[in-house]
Amino acid sequence: MSTNAVDEQADIDELHWWDLAEVADNDSAIFGPTAWTLSYYWAVRAQAGTVMFAARTPTSALAGWIVMSAAGGEADVMTIATTEEGRGQGIARRLLQAGVDWAAKTGAEAVHLEVDEHNEPALGLYRSFGFSEWGRRPDYYPGADAILMRFRP
Ligand SMILES: CC(C)(COP(=O)(O)OP(=O)(O)OC[C@H]1O[C@@H](n2cnc3c(N)ncnc32)[C@H](O)[C@@H]1OP(=O)(O)O)[C@@H](O)C(=O)NCCC(=O)NCCS
Repeated sequence: MSTNAVDEQADIDELHWWDLAEVADNDSAIFGPTAWTLSYYWAVRAQAGTVMFAARTPTSALAGWIVMSAAGGEADVMTIATTEEGRGQGIARRLLQAGVDWAAKTGAEAVHLEVDEHNEPALGLYRSFGFSEWGRRPDYYPGADAILMRFRP
């Protein structure tokens, strides 16, 4: 899959196995102690019903990634991030669109995710995309609730 528009810098494609180490390094820089390890990325990639997309600049620098899973007519955004250099350019929105499009092709009728109640950039992204809040998990994160959100493709 490729969504390379004329006015957009980053190219979005399925993430290859040889990208995983670079993604895990960036994940660690962004998420710190809650980051996925490289071996966890490998384990998720090996699961049936998962997909990973990466955004790369024209010079091939990693700008962001998303991991989705789908089963039984439901899909989940497992993780999504944009590198600090890539932020504010619509990259996460395009990654989310790629993930939702993939979910719809699997037959998913709903896409779910969880987000830290204090994560304003992520909440802004999901709300502006059209996700709606349907519940909370108290203290799911250290010192914060998880907001449960859903989108119907
Ligand atoms: C959340 C994150 C993925 C957004 O990435 P991004 O590429 O900068 O987002 P985009 O440029 O695609 O922005 C899309 C929309 O998200 C919202 N948004 C993005 N950054 C925002 C911010 N700092 N504050 C509030 N809303 C924000 C806006 O609605 C924006 O639309 P607009 O530009 O038309 O106003 C990025 O900040 C990130 O990687 N954060 C760390 C990892 C993380 O928290 N992941 C989510 C875990 S649930």
